[in-house]
Parts: sequence; structure tokens; C-alpha cells
Amino acid sequence: MDLMRLRQSAGIRALMSETQVSASQLVMPLFIHEGISEPRPVAAMPGVFQHSVDSVVDEVAELVGLGIRAVLLFGIPVEKTPTADAAFNPNGGVQQVISVLKQKFPELVVMADCCLCEYSADGHCGPRDSAGNIDLEKTLIILEKVALSYAKAGVDIVAPSGMMDGMIARLRSALDQNGFSRTLLMSYAVKYASAFYGPFREAAGSGDHFVGHRKDHQMNPAQIREAFREAQADVDQGADILMVKPGLPYLDVLAQLRQRHDLPLAVYQVSGEYAMIKAAAAAGALDERAAIQETLTAFRRAGADLIITYFAKDYARL
Ligand code: PBG
Repeated sequence: MDLMRLRQSAGIRALMSETQVSASQLVMPLFIHEGISEPRPVAAMPGVFQHSVDSVVDEVAELVGLGIRAVLLFGIPVEKTPTADAAFNPNGGVQQVISVLKQKFPELVVMADCCLCEYSADGHCGPRDSAGNIDLEKTLIILEKVALSYAKAGVDIVAPSGMMDGMIARLRSALDQNGFSRTLLMSYAVKYASAFYGPFREAAGSGDHFVGHRKDHQMNPAQIREAFREAQADVDQGADILMVKPGLPYLDVLAQLRQRHDLPLAVYQVSGEYAMIKAAAAAGALDERAAIQETLTAFRRAGADLIITYFAKDYARL
């Protein structure tokens, strides 16, 4: 007996544990629907709700009470337009919630997703040109407006998730030129075109009307060298935090980025990963608590500093 000696009791196992997950490392994603007055359950994600501009405040009070220190906001507008105009409305749901949360919970780190898919009429991440390709310049101009509207509302961290080339440089300079040099950028630097975003489409109201795919801007799951180029580009452009998304299928990417970069690294345990665990637990196939603990530990072991997860609240409760 040699290796087993180190695992013989809960006390010894805890003492030897190389990796910890604490609630302060978790980020809870929250959906804010501008057109509802009561929380609305997301069928594909049991336990997750779309919130109203008011109800989200109670939810955050509960999260803060449980030791969660960061939230990531997504907005669902009443009206989706070809140019995603609601995304940069100074009185939009996300903008309102940012300022209310910063007033009520000054210590809370408020992050907001910066992408157009929830706001655009066709569900794409940016306007398309006549050939059907993303119009990069038009998209970047709108994203700058979105980031500035968040910064004006007092957001701590803008989280651009659109995988648009050059987006970090453009947002950094837009923020700096407008007096927001303290606003951080958390880049979804390595975001794969993944089947695991399925349930999110319902949660973010970007599902039914969406036709097509995002393979022309999100990464091919077969690639890892390209992930290094994506991350390096965002480092060069001024990202403060890099992210890998989804989580579990891409632990290799996370681990290798940890070796290559010294910036804080985030991982996003996405909607499909959440839904899989929920469904398996509901079917009696696995122990939900243990699965949450194990997956979050795996992210930390692979090198994540922060973890964006719909289980943040559940984990804090454990
Ligand atoms: C884009 C965005 C998506 C997610 C986060 N930001 C959807 C997509 O890229 O298709 C997915 C998150 C999840 O599945 O939990 N705004």
C-alpha cells in the first residue's frame, strides 16, 4: 500500500487536495427579459429562469447572501431588429440592471455579455451583407455602442462573445477614448461552434427564428492550434481575461492556454453541459451534487481561475 495511504480518510483527502473550488471563483449567468414582469422558467434548463428587470434584483440578493460575487448578464429585448438596436439602448434591460445592481451591491462584480444574437431579428451575431456573410465593420460599430452603453451604466466587465476578428482592440479603444479605461474586457477568446449551446437559445430567446449556423465565426471543434492564435490575438489586443467555452469537452484547450498565458483564465460551463447533468440526475443516472463538484473541480484543475456556471447558486448552497 502506498498511494492508497493518502486517500484513507476524509480528513487526509481534504488535507492533500490540490484543487479547491470556492464560491468566490464562480460567476452566475442571469437572463433579463425586458418584456416580462414575473420570472419565467427556461424549460430546457430546469432551475434556470428568465428574470424581469425587477425580479433579478431579488435573485442577486440571494446569490450575494450565498457568497457569489459575480454575475454575467444577458438581455432579451421586446423587439429584435436587423441592426440589434435594443442592445445599446441606454434604458435597456441590461443597462438598467447594471446600474441598479451596482447601487445595491457595490461589491458585486457585474459582467455583461456583448453580442448581438439576442437582439438581432435573424438571431445572428451581426448584420449580414448581401452575400450572407457577416458584415464585420458594421458589427464592430454596433458592438462598440453596446460596450459603451454598459460602461456608462457602470458595468465592471464587458464580455464580448461574438468571436468577431479585431473586436477586443476596437472595444478597448472605444472604452479608453470615452473615459472607461477601468472597464475590463473578458474575451470569449476561444469559443467553439458547439452543440452544447442548444438550451441557451431558449433561455436567451435566440432560438426559434435562427436559421443557419455560426461556424463562420466560432471555432471548429477540431482545432487547437487555432485556439492559441485566437488567444494570442486577444492578448495582443488588450484582453484582461481569456475564456474557453464550452468547458468539459475542451479541458485540453484550457490546460494548454494555462501553460501559455499568464492572464486570468475563465471557463464557461455552458447550457448544454448544465442540461445534461440535470437530465441525467432527473433520470436517476447520476448524483447531481457529486457531478457538480467533480466538473467544477476539473475546470480548476485544468487551469481555470474563474468558472461561469449555471450551477453557481447550487454550488454555493452546498
Ligand atoms: C452569444 C452567446 C452564446 C452563449 C453565450 N453567449 C450563444 C452562442 O454563441 O450561440 C452560450 C452560453 C450557453 O450555452 O450557456 N451571445
